[in-house]
Amino acid sequence: VRNLSRAFAFAALLAASASAWADPQDTIDYRRHVMKTMGEQVAAIRMILEKKAPADNLAVHVAVIAATAPQAKKAFEPQVPGGNAKPAVWADWADFSKRLDSLVAATDELAKAAKGSAAAVTGAKLQALPCQGCHETYRVPPKAPPK
Ligand code: HEC
Repeated sequence: VRNLSRAFAFAALLAASASAWADPQDTIDYRRHVMKTMGEQVAAIRMILEKKAPADNLAVHVAVIAATAPQAKKAFEPQVPGGNAKPAVWADWADFSKRLDSLVAATDELAKAAKGSAAAVTGAKLQALPCQGCHETYRVPPKAPPK
């Protein structure tokens, strides 16, 4: 009986975690929040590089991108086309997730460099992050591109 109730408890737990993903719009909103977080940090770093904002927070902005990049994988795991994500995200999941792994590695490296010296963060280094390449392949272009 004890094993049985344990099995039920486990099933209930699974059901609860599945229901966290039950609404497709929630799934889409969540991954967009994760992406937007990185977009905001890149925008803040650009302002610093253009001397429109104080440089004190530079390394932390880069660290936030590095902390957010690994979250993107979990966020895109559920196969929910929609938003501006192309169905190819899941059709070519091996390639898509490899690109996310590269993002994690590249942002981690830049975060470490930024911690050592603010001068390590340049416009070219930002441009070299694999954001744009993935968007060109897997994202429907937004109607009015902000950049
Ligand atoms: C592996 C592919 C991939 C990489 C790498 C990637 N993105 Fe994205 N990004 C996407 C996809 C797909 C969407 C569309 C998601 C949707 O609408 O459901 C998106 C959406 C966005 C959005 C729009 C969010 C919104 O408001 O709807 C921003 C901003 C963004 N990404 C910024 C970034 C930045 C900055 C980086 C690099 C630091 C990055 N992305 C790296 C795939 C990627």
